[in-house]
Amino acid sequence: MIKRNILIASAFFSFSLGIAQQYGGMWIPTELNEKEMKDLGMKISAKDIFNTQKPSIKDAVVQFNGGCTAEIISPKGLLLTNHHCGYGQIQSHSTVQNDLLSNGFWAKNMSSELPNPGVTVDFIVDIKEVTPQILQGTENLQEPELSKKIAANIETYKKTQKIEDYQSISVKSMYYGNKFYAYVIETYKDVRLVGAPPQSIGKFGSDTDNWVWPRHTGDFSMFRIYADKNNKPAEYSKDNIPYVPKHYLPVSIKDKNENDFTFVFGFPGRTTEYLPAIAVEKIMTEIDPARIAVRDVALKTLDEKMRTDDATRIQYASKYASVANYWKKWIGEVEGLKKSNAVQKKKNYENSLAAKNPAIKTTIDQINKLYADQAPFALNNAYYSEVVRNAETLMLANIFSGFIASAEAGKLDEKGIASFKKRLASFYKDYNAELDAKVTAKLLALYANKTAPQFLPAGFAELKDENQNIINFEKLSKNSVITGRSNVNGASLSENIDKAFSNQENLIKSIKKDPVYELFMNMRNTYMKSADPQFTSLQTQIDALQKKYMAQQMETDKDRKFFPDANSTLRVTYGQVKGSSPRDAVTYDYQTHLAGVMEKYVPGDYEFDVPQKLIDLYNKKDYGIYKDKTGDVPVGFTATNHTTGGNSGSPALDAKGNLIGLNFDRQWEGTMSDINYDPRFSRNIMVDTKYILFIIDKFANSKWLIDEMKIVK
Ligand code: ARG
Ligand code: ASP
Repeated sequence: MIKRNILIASAFFSFSLGIAQQYGGMWIPTELNEKEMKDLGMKISAKDIFNTQKPSIKDAVVQFNGGCTAEIISPKGLLLTNHHCGYGQIQSHSTVQNDLLSNGFWAKNMSSELPNPGVTVDFIVDIKEVTPQILQGTENLQEPELSKKIAANIETYKKTQKIEDYQSISVKSMYYGNKFYAYVIETYKDVRLVGAPPQSIGKFGSDTDNWVWPRHTGDFSMFRIYADKNNKPAEYSKDNIPYVPKHYLPVSIKDKNENDFTFVFGFPGRTTEYLPAIAVEKIMTEIDPARIAVRDVALKTLDEKMRTDDATRIQYASKYASVANYWKKWIGEVEGLKKSNAVQKKKNYENSLAAKNPAIKTTIDQINKLYADQAPFALNNAYYSEVVRNAETLMLANIFSGFIASAEAGKLDEKGIASFKKRLASFYKDYNAELDAKVTAKLLALYANKTAPQFLPAGFAELKDENQNIINFEKLSKNSVITGRSNVNGASLSENIDKAFSNQENLIKSIKKDPVYELFMNMRNTYMKSADPQFTSLQTQIDALQKKYMAQQMETDKDRKFFPDANSTLRVTYGQVKGSSPRDAVTYDYQTHLAGVMEKYVPGDYEFDVPQKLIDLYNKKDYGIYKDKTGDVPVGFTATNHTTGGNSGSPALDAKGNLIGLNFDRQWEGTMSDINYDPRFSRNIMVDTKYILFIIDKFANSKWLIDEMKIVK
């Protein structure tokens, strides 16, 4: 029965979603499938989305601070992005007395908006394919000469382009180095915080609901771009004026219907859709499980402490959230790869390609051999990297090893030392040495148990017992200088960095004989000798074959329209508003409502508390124009748009290019879309514009912001 349902569902989707979209699609905005988009319901043209000759939608979409996406929604440079994208800025304006994370923040007028030094937004002014220029003279080159020549060609290309002094050019590799595209970028540097709901709205559901549908998070915050008096980029100045955009997005509060056309415009970070079956199998059965296992241990140990101690909870909140985010994603990814039969699907695809082009069989055979050869090294690499990343004490030792290497090579000047000290200070601020001694002890036991004998550092065979490790490592940690629990030059590194650094020679001498440092260096040196060189050299060979396999897929599969893997460049993905049936007897609706927020409400809970004001609005049903046909306020919705990390904050637009939602997540059953998009289960999750406006208007009483926007009713 399940099988039959799946068959029916996939036939239905490939019909209703169109041929190109069966693999998802993150399209370069200058190469859109206009016809398919129109067939799906789009009422505007590709030229309305991206145009260098006149204002188009791309003029309202920016990369926010190098990671997320944001969009302009008023003629005065008002910017919308996710709460989790603006989190760092909201946090940086917060104090215990004035906690903007807990209470939210709403500027009363422009002069009370808050500056954020260092925060930038990037506009894409132009996109050009520049493959011939970049690959010129590379025909017969192998690595490492190939990369050097490409880098030189990129430099030459950049020098020959005439751009304004407030613009820059970035050249990006696509299709694993088979093509290259140049982006002209304009970076604005005065970006001020305008508004953010309290966490109990902006982060409602927190880690429990993360990656999960049905979702009820109001994950948005607002900023404003400021410019100099000529509307050009400028460093922060109180004399700057609100940026006047070439285009801003009208905000729609129309009801949504299943199958409505929608597209998402933003900066997806990284996907790997064109891997061979063997690579997917390795991720699914070895690499992801290794990373998950390490984070399982780290998260569980932190959680025990965070639940009983408030100071630790606050200190580790942000770190915990970021470790938990990908931990949870990988678990969903493995499940989804299994359920979507990704490995077999890829194998079938390889066979069908090889039947048309026998050269592909040779490529796949070579790739298979390389992955088999690399497997033990790749597994050790996965454990080593994850353990060092999550055992903060080992991470500290790693940071110090870099410092000592630079110092001994005579490469450290005053400035270098100052910035190193700054880095350390920010590390120690959120580091609980005693708690991490436990995490590190457990992770060392895991490493000792999971590492094959040929990669096991001398003496690590004795670290396999977790409980014994906890006792032993606590002693090492207590006697260590780098943990800050033992003094050097008469001071603790975590309490008085300047004093601990007062005699640098002595500091380095002490660190070198520090028991924790010695243990880490033993681990590192063994890894660097027994695994890293082989891992890297095999990876270089795999990369070269992956480039070849990519080119072969493109020249052999003529019916398929290819899009390049995400690489943090501007893309358009499109699809339809849609629910899903991810499991037997389970059906998801495409829309959630405020009533669902109240269903999840747990008074005083750190994830599911609801602000009193919102409860009052709910009780009075004071919804104004923001309710939908059900009489309730829509909160979130899902669609078939193919998105990934970096798409957070991206605008979701309707057939006419009006804003209908704010992308912020994907549903768990479909997160394998980074490797194998499956139209049956892959859904992106957005906050409904009606909920955003409802919160701004009714909850925050900030009608002045609504008045700036163009509302489409
Ligand atoms: N999963 C979303 C993304 O990958 C949201 C992450 C932020 N929220 C959280 N609870 N950690 O970024
Ligand atoms: N939450 C992700 C982001 O921050 C989006 C995703 O992975 O779907 O970009």
